[in-house]
Parts: sequence; structure tokens; C-alpha cells
Amino acid sequence: MACRCCMDKIVVEGGHRLQGEVRISGAKNAALPMLVASLLADGWSSFQNVPDLKDIESIKLLLENLGAKVESDSHQVRIDGGGLCNHEASYDLVRKMRASILVLGPLVARLKRARVSLPGGCAIGERPINLHLKGLQQLGAEIQIDHGYVEARAERLRGADICLDMPTVTGTENLMMAAVLAEGVTVLRNVAREPEVVALADTLNRMGASIQGAGASAMTICGVKSLHPVSVSVIPDRIEAGTFMVAAALTQGDVTVCGCEPEHMQAFLHKLRQTNARVQEDRSSIRVVGPETIASVDVKTLPFPGFPTDMQAQFMVLMSIASGLSIISETVFENRFIHVGELRRMGADIQISGNSALIKGASMLSGAPVMATDLRASASLILAGLVAQGVTEVNRVYHLDRGYEKIEEKFASLGAVIRRVPV
Ligand code: EPZ
Repeated sequence: MACRCCMDKIVVEGGHRLQGEVRISGAKNAALPMLVASLLADGWSSFQNVPDLKDIESIKLLLENLGAKVESDSHQVRIDGGGLCNHEASYDLVRKMRASILVLGPLVARLKRARVSLPGGCAIGERPINLHLKGLQQLGAEIQIDHGYVEARAERLRGADICLDMPTVTGTENLMMAAVLAEGVTVLRNVAREPEVVALADTLNRMGASIQGAGASAMTICGVKSLHPVSVSVIPDRIEAGTFMVAAALTQGDVTVCGCEPEHMQAFLHKLRQTNARVQEDRSSIRVVGPETIASVDVKTLPFPGFPTDMQAQFMVLMSIASGLSIISETVFENRFIHVGELRRMGADIQISGNSALIKGASMLSGAPVMATDLRASASLILAGLVAQGVTEVNRVYHLDRGYEKIEEKFASLGAVIRRVPV
């Protein structure tokens, strides 16, 4: 992990057209559950195309703390789950990254018990884990909440027919990892269908699990006695890819995003085309040519295959300099408009009413010092800086480093005038 001080800032000079090719890193939200899945088997699993991110460092630390052996070299990570012995994931580790809750299922499956700190809320919403816990109870675990920790115990998890109240991504992933070693058959209904969930199912099946239906709204998991290690590559990050495509559309640029999976991005690409951007899909790359005039487009975020909530802030920047009025509705998280205040300071004309934002395209944005608050909001501020008049300083870029690998270097390689300034 390159040295990234938590108080660094990124300085962007607006007005430069982006051109050229950029290679997409592995998906953070696929790598995290895949690395955790290695706890389910004795022996060395190896993962390729793992992104070099703070969140990956955090999960490696947690897995080591639980007793797994972890080795990594550049974008390869090797993990031996055989040494798993500690069933407790401490508050200190979980508070750094809420996806740590993903160890809950594997710990109960392998050690018959788990004590994991409740992840707590975050900037974009309360983000409870009630559905994770309800599903584990249906699989036979006894669950208690005690002093901010989840205590889970189960002599042997048993297959069950579970219908999720909502298609939670990490909830689906937690229950998949609990069910693969349970006794009997589990049916998970109303599950998340994200590509990252399908990637976890593929990984588990290659470890010897028996999962059918990943990517559909119901999954069937036949419990097996044990799993074996796996060697697997992480799928490309569709959100990083989308972020660079928005940058091309914003700056009237001509950018080809390489090493991405168009099939994972259809709802977003559909909306991007409606802005008059020219979008050319190839097998594993997408070229985006930004339009002279950006057309205003309404968007509603939804679970996959709908428009991804993780692209909402980025798309809002595009709408803030579009030619008319647009409405963006956020249906997944209850507080995911934090970036609006900062965009307004840059001249964006955005009114919020409930879970909808009404955006009136401005002729231009003006550079300003702004504050990052969560991962995707930070990315949207960088995007705004690329197209604003003057200089934008994005502070607290540690949010960015959690989910974007060397973002300033990648943008600079496309012609952006952007640099990281240690503070
Ligand atoms: C995953 O978070 C992603 N993180 C998020 O990406 C992404 O925004 C989100 O899915 C939605 O796509 C990882 O995969 C590590 P959810 P997750 O459970 O699993 C409610 C990023 O920027 N809910 O699908 O935590 C919840 O409050 C991050 O990379 C319950 O009510 O999201 C939310 O409103 C941000 N009870 C909705 O479901 C539960 O038990 C969707 O949450 C679980 C969730």
C-alpha cells in the first residue's frame, strides 16, 4: 500500500479535457467477501487482481487477527484459513471498515461461535445488520447483542428457507458463507444480485460448495462437509469504471476504460447514453466520448440490476452542468446526499426534497476547497474539480484511498492537472 497519510488533500485544476486509456482495478466489493471466504477452508487460497486499497489492508489485518496466515505481493494475496482460532473481531478493527461484519458467517460455520463488534452507522445511513442476524438465527445460530457486540453460537448450522426483507449485499454474502457448510439445503430468497455476489458464489463453488442461482432473486445452497482452497481472480470494479466514464463525459473527453465488464454496467451505461455521451462497448473495454451539450436525465438508484447507488454522487456532478432539470432519487440509503452541500459551494444548483434531489444544470462550476465525507462523495468532488473553473482542493482524501487505487495518478495519465499534497 503506497504511503497515504490520512490528512492528505488532492488539488485539481479544472478545464482539461481527458483523453486516453485507463485500466480498471479489481473490485473492492468483490475482493472483500472473496478474501473472507478463505476462512472456510484449510490451506492456501490465492487471489489475483486484488486492488491496492486501505479497505483491503484492513480486511487482511482482521483475518490475521482471527488466526489466518496472510501473504501479499502487489495485487496478489494468499491466505491460509487453516489457522483460524480466534472467534472475536474487535471494535477497533470493525470500526475501521463495516464490511468486517462479513466474518460473522464464516466464524460461526467454522468455529461454531463468533463475537463481532456491531459495525454501527456511517455517513450515508444507519446501515443496520438485522437481516444478517435474522438469517443466521434461521440457520440455527443463537444470537445475542451484548455491549456493542454480536455474540453468535451454533453447534451445527442447519439449512433453512430464508426470505430477506430486502436484497442486502453483504447480508446475502454473510448468509451464503454460513450456509455452504450447514447441514442440508438452504434457499435464500430476495437476495442481492450484484456481480460481486455472483463472484463470491463462483469463488465458493470453486472451493467445493454447491450454490445454484447466484445472480437471480433466489439461491439454493446444498451444505457440504468441507471446502478446499481456491485460486481466483477478482472481477473488475464497475464503480471505478463508471467514475472514469463520467469524467470523460464531464470534460468533453475521449476515454477508453480497459479491463472492465460491460455486462455489469448496463443500467448505468443506458443512462450515460441518454446524456448524449457516445458510449462504445467492446468485450472488456468501453470508450466514452463526452458531448458538447450534456442532456439532463432523471435517475433512481436501485439494487442491481438497477442504477447503482454507488454511482449516484458521480452522476449528480454530470447533471449539475447538464442543459436542463433532472431528478435523482436515492432509494437504497437514507442519507446519501452529503456531497450536495459541497457541490453547492462549487456553484451547483441542487434542491433536496426527501430522498430526491432536483438539479438545475449550471453553466459552470467554480473551484473551491471542499471536504470529502464518504467514499463515493469524495470521488464526486474530484469529478467536480476536473470541470470547475479554477482550482479545487479536496480534503480528507483518506475516504478516497479506501476504494480507489491511485486515483490521482490515473486521472493525471488521462491529462488531468491533479496532485496529492501531503498535509
Ligand atoms: C454494500 O453495502 C456495498 N459495500 C456498498 O458499497 C453499496 O453501496 C451497498 O452494498 C449497496 O449496493 C460492500 O459491498 C462492502 P446493503 P451493504 O446491506 O451490504 C439496509 C461503497 O461505496 N439493510 O445492500 O452494507 C441498509 O440500511 C459501499 O463501496 C437493512 O436494513 O449494503 C441499506 O439501506 C458503500 N438491514 C440497504 O439495506 C440489513 O441487515 C442496502 O444495504 C442490511 C441492510
